[in-house]
Order: sequence, then C-alpha cells, then structure tokens
Amino acid sequence: MLTKTLSVNNQKRQVGFFEDEPLLWVLRERLGLRAVKFGCGIGICGACTVLLNNQPARSCTILAKDVDVPITTLEGIDKSHPVIRAWIDYQVPQCGYCQGGIIMSVYAMTLRKPLPSASNVLKNLSSHICRCGTYERIAKAVRNIFPE
Ligand code: FES
Ligand code: FES
Repeated sequence: MLTKTLSVNNQKRQVGFFEDEPLLWVLRERLGLRAVKFGCGIGICGACTVLLNNQPARSCTILAKDVDVPITTLEGIDKSHPVIRAWIDYQVPQCGYCQGGIIMSVYAMTLRKPLPSASNVLKNLSSHICRCGTYERIAKAVRNIFPE
C-alpha cells in the first residue's frame, strides 16, 4: 500500500491505496465520492470523468499514484452553478448514471475563456455514452449555457 495526500475538491485528503489502483476507485471507494461512476473501465464511456487541474480526465485509466494536481469531482461543484441549474431546469437525467461524468466535462468547458460555442461543447461531449439516450435534453441544456 502507498499513502499519498491528494487535493480533492479544495481539501487535502490523505489516503492509502495499492500501487496499481485507478484514481476512480480511490475517489469512489476510499474517499466516498460516489458521483464518480464505473462504466466501462477502459476509458470509453466517460462515466468516471473528473477534472484534473480543471481538465476532464477519465479516472478509470489513471493511476492514483500518478496524480499530483488538484482533482475536482461532481461533489465539488457549487449546486447553484449554471450547469447544475440547467441540468435541473431541462430535467436532463433519466437513470442519471452517466450524468456526473457529462456534467464534469461541461463544467470544464465553462471554465474556458472565451466560452466555447454550444456546438463545440456538443462535439466534445460526443465521447460520452448515455445508455438512456438523453442526448436531446443535454443539447438543450448546453444551448442554454453556451453561445451559438
Ligand atoms: S468507466 Fe472510465 S471511461 Fe468508462
Ligand atoms: S441517464 Fe441513464 S445512462 Fe445516461
């Protein structure tokens, strides 16, 4: 076991984990951040997306021992943030399983200056898989946040 201090949602968290343990499991099982979801485990679906230094990253493909930058999960986003508001206003989630990862990718794009266009945001989201097919509602929410 290794012990390391991770910066998660603006807090220093000391945590022990195995050398080959993906960040996904450290966040979810060892630190209790259950918004980080396991989908495919091979970097394809996007359910495990978190931000590393404000950039989206698939936490199932990254070893926790290699992470030395600030980590943000869905739990770290202010509930009044425009992305969260839009997701509620447009009732985007169905089962909700994929949505944490999608929201993290959208949230990362709200941190860019200048703001990207809605169509660029939607292009970026095409690598996320939603088995419930909420894509139309995602597009509506994104168009509400970003310029055309
Ligand atoms: S669980 Fe990480 S990309 Fe699917
Ligand atoms: S809302 Fe169910 S998988 Fe996307």
